[in-house]
Amino acid sequence: MARIVILTGAGISAESGLGTFRDKGGLWNQYDLEEVATPQGFRRNRALVHEFYNARRANCAGAQPNPAHHALARLEAALPGEVVIIRQNVDDLHQRAGSRNVIQMHGALMRALCGACGHVWEAPLIMAPDDPCPACARPETRPDVVWFGEVPYALADIEPALERAAVFAAIGTSGQVWPAAGFAATAQAAGAQCIELNLERSEMSDVSDRHHIGPASVAVPLWVDSLLAGHA
Ligand code: APR
Repeated sequence: MARIVILTGAGISAESGLGTFRDKGGLWNQYDLEEVATPQGFRRNRALVHEFYNARRANCAGAQPNPAHHALARLEAALPGEVVIIRQNVDDLHQRAGSRNVIQMHGALMRALCGACGHVWEAPLIMAPDDPCPACARPETRPDVVWFGEVPYALADIEPALERAAVFAAIGTSGQVWPAAGFAATAQAAGAQCIELNLERSEMSDVSDRHHIGPASVAVPLWVDSLLAGHA
């Protein structure tokens, strides 16, 4: 099982042009998360929620992985079976950079989910409230993203990975959303060295043994180089 566990957040995709959530000008300063990222909001106004995610999907489709995504893919290629990325973002930039062992704990913008039967399929670029599910035909389609108040995916895979980690790195996440915010402490308690890579110190800082402060596109490739030098 992987010994290098990497939790990524919106900051890793910021330099690809995808917005973060809580920074100045972040998405949650522009939109009411209760309206666009909760099951209650979806019940109240499906069109608004689809509009929000259609815009995110269009941004994502037009974005490219940056050097931070590429560096993590390089790390995994150099140390097969040793690296797992736990992705909070719903974009697909890790996969497009070549990372394979990616846990999509908050779901995926490019997937659609039927709220009635649970069927999952590739999302069209534009989704609408009346789109029928290809399996059951009911018009209950939604983006396959985990909203506030819903349980993240793959927690049963994440827990053992944290327990076995030798290195835990948190990249570009503010550490304000649970349960991901608690992963560093779990890994640290199990013996992992915890590293924070962020533009600035964050809620993750107190549980981190080392900090690499700077833009992910610079800090992550340097960190990967040093990690690989240590393994050489
Ligand atoms: N390089 C490195 N870090 C950066 C960069 C950058 N270029 N730009 C911003 N950051 C850092 C910010 O300093 C901040 O700590 O990225 C972090 C982004 O924090 P948030 O916007 O809170 O994003 P995230 O932690 O991923 O949010 C977690 O909340 O609503 C949600 O579900 C959504 O998955 C998301 C979750």
